Amino acid sequence: MKPQDITYQPEPVKSIVIVGKDRNSSAGNYLAGLLASYKHLYAFIDKQLMMKSRIVRDLAVDLQEMGCPMRAVEATEEAKTMDSVMEMCSWLMEKGADRDAVLVAVGGGITTDMVGFTAGIYKRGVRYVNVPSTLLAQVDAALGGKSGVNFEKYKNILGVIRQPVITFIWPSLLTSLPRRDFLSGAAEMLKTFMIEDGGNYRKAADLFFDMSSEYNMEVLMNGKDESKTWAGIMKKHMDTLCELIGAAADIKAGVVSRDPFEKEERRKLNLGHTFAHAIETLAQRDGGERFQHPEDPRQPQGVTHGEAVAMGLVLAARLADRYFRKDKNDPTELEGMISNDLWDSDIPCYCPYTVEEMAETMKKDKKAEGGKIHFVLPKSVGDVVTVGLTVEEVCRLMA
Ligand SMILES: NC(=O)c1ccc[n+]([C@@H]2O[C@H](COP(=O)([O-])OP(=O)(O)OC[C@H]3O[C@@H](n4cnc5c(N)ncnc54)[C@H](O)[C@@H]3O)[C@@H](O)[C@H]2O)c1
Repeated sequence: MKPQDITYQPEPVKSIVIVGKDRNSSAGNYLAGLLASYKHLYAFIDKQLMMKSRIVRDLAVDLQEMGCPMRAVEATEEAKTMDSVMEMCSWLMEKGADRDAVLVAVGGGITTDMVGFTAGIYKRGVRYVNVPSTLLAQVDAALGGKSGVNFEKYKNILGVIRQPVITFIWPSLLTSLPRRDFLSGAAEMLKTFMIEDGGNYRKAADLFFDMSSEYNMEVLMNGKDESKTWAGIMKKHMDTLCELIGAAADIKAGVVSRDPFEKEERRKLNLGHTFAHAIETLAQRDGGERFQHPEDPRQPQGVTHGEAVAMGLVLAARLADRYFRKDKNDPTELEGMISNDLWDSDIPCYCPYTVEEMAETMKKDKKAEGGKIHFVLPKSVGDVVTVGLTVEEVCRLMA
């Protein structure tokens, strides 16, 4: 008997990325209009945001008027688990959510990851909308459809790839974002421009340097209030920030649309991430104690995803230097440039773990295939290549 060859076309999905500064709440009305076109909305909103952001409180009022049930999300890495996803599914069941449900995620990468995953598995998959509220989520986490939760102390080990129907990028949401979380996103933005530059890497590095210099001047020298000063600095630089967010989102959306399931090109977006995930996993295990630098306030306790990415970028540059130049005594220009740019912007980038300490964790990397991991190596700004290496080879090169 001849096997029957059946092919089918999955339903095409499209994300809408809206970038624009909004000083007169027109973006809020626009988002409400977009959401109103869906009948059965169920919103998941980061708990912190409800307390800190007036924009989100206004959005919640709009959602309430649309009859949308809302649930608060605990946005911590400890809570980013299968248990939380199960609770979200139970809540959806309790609210009578059907296959035509549209989930709305309002929050940072933790919220969009958990809601995206829930949308991927609930009743074999429902639609979802992302409204990212951190810089990191606006330029990265909320775009591309990857979602996941932590499992057995490993990062994002369980997950799905399912594109959101809309990703609504609204930079004004960032004005309530704490500085540490902003800088975390800044690292992820620099990563994107390391992959595809177009002159944006230097522009972004200079912007973050200026913002941090202004902050240090006002807070450390003039004793001004930390959060108010930071919010003011973000508002002052909003035009440039919007431009850069748009450029970074565009790069990610372009790569994802050419390679949605990470067969080839999409791998390069993982620049620095094998190291970063190992750093985050080790930090979660040891309570982040290696990150305590009491004499240096620039190295606060624990590590955020973006800070781990910053450390991963420096390590990836070192690995690339060693891999391409072979002679480890050659100067490591790229590593020096990246770490200076990160340090000048107050983004912690010194990794407190040795490569040997990270080795076991790296072997569990999702990108490992046949014992080799696809390491993304930067040759220069805007020029990266993917190379399959075993963890042992990496340890040897970086010794
Ligand atoms: N799916 C992907 O492709 C992808 C890519 C990169 C990162 N991630 C994941 O994203 C997560 C990190 O995301 P993140 O850094 O966006 O942060 P997050 O969701 O952890 O948020 C950071 C903190 O900021 C608060 N917050 C969020 N928005 C705020 C706002 N506008 N104002 C005030 N406070 C606000 C949150 O409550 C939280 O305390 C990690 O778990 C990482 O694994 C996923």
